Amino acid sequence: MDVLKRALSCPKAELHVHIEGTLEPELAFALAQRNNIAFPHASVEALRAAYDFSDLQSFLDLYYACADVLRTEQDFSDLMLAYLRRAREDNVVHAEIFFDPQTHTPRGVSFETVLKGLEAGAAIAAAEWGMSTRLILCFLRHLSEEDAFATLELALPFIDRIHGFGLDSSEVGHPPSKFERVFAKCRALGKPVVAHAGEEGPPAYIVEALDLLKVSRIDHGVRAVEDAALTHRLAHDRIALTVCPLSNVRLCVFEKMELHSLPSMLAGGLCITINSDDPAYFGGYLGANIRAVQAAFAFDATTWREFFRNSFDASFVDEAQKEKWL
Ligand code: ADE
Ligand code: ZN
Repeated sequence: MDVLKRALSCPKAELHVHIEGTLEPELAFALAQRNNIAFPHASVEALRAAYDFSDLQSFLDLYYACADVLRTEQDFSDLMLAYLRRAREDNVVHAEIFFDPQTHTPRGVSFETVLKGLEAGAAIAAAEWGMSTRLILCFLRHLSEEDAFATLELALPFIDRIHGFGLDSSEVGHPPSKFERVFAKCRALGKPVVAHAGEEGPPAYIVEALDLLKVSRIDHGVRAVEDAALTHRLAHDRIALTVCPLSNVRLCVFEKMELHSLPSMLAGGLCITINSDDPAYFGGYLGANIRAVQAAFAFDATTWREFFRNSFDASFVDEAQKEKWL
């Protein structure tokens, strides 16, 4: 079997996927119709044509607008099940999935509706296909610390059902330090924390995420290699980086896949995992990311094995479960 086929067929974990970013145009239109919402795009094709991003913010504007079709528990369940059905085709056996309550609660969709819906979809995938999932609540960093604290309050009644906390949305101008106190409270609840850092933002944001938020993984982190001391630290401490190659190209972090920092990251000894981020918007799920990376870099079988091993190793499941997968 060639390297690509083996990489695609290997069992793997996905550690960086936003459930709202798995909303395919077809489902968005179906939900708009079901919920009687006038959707501001003429057709599925017109919506897809709008997926032409110049940077992170240009994507986020559309991503938040599309999320407006998600209203009911059933909508969130359908969204989760559709993602897991698709991820299974790429041999994902475990997924740690971000959700953004602040995208929904200001629209009048309750925290409980979001959580129960996502859990219902995940329960079907667990029963039907044995898929394992964890939910990670992400705070939107363009909003205030006060708003993040209020969201954490909303989460408290359900805290046993939330596995960890993360930080996403517009990075530049919203450094991790803004959420130092929120993350201290999340950690005091006994939860692991992660943060998007070094996607568009500078390596200094990765340092802040480590030192101030005390994250156990960095989401993206593709700019880490601009700082040799930071690269050495990440490698030495085996901090996993959840890299999303197609996302980075679609959001113009790199002009083309061949210019992605993955080879430098590997040369720096970093613990890399490959993920899809917002697959409905960026041209594909985990399998498409693997194909695009392999077309650009022709990594060997050992490198791919290492990526997938890292995905289980860096996951938040217990050691006994990891042993079964590794
Ligand atoms: N929210 C969804 N996708 C994101 C990304 N790539 N970066 C920051 N926030 C996001
Ligand atoms: Zn992301």
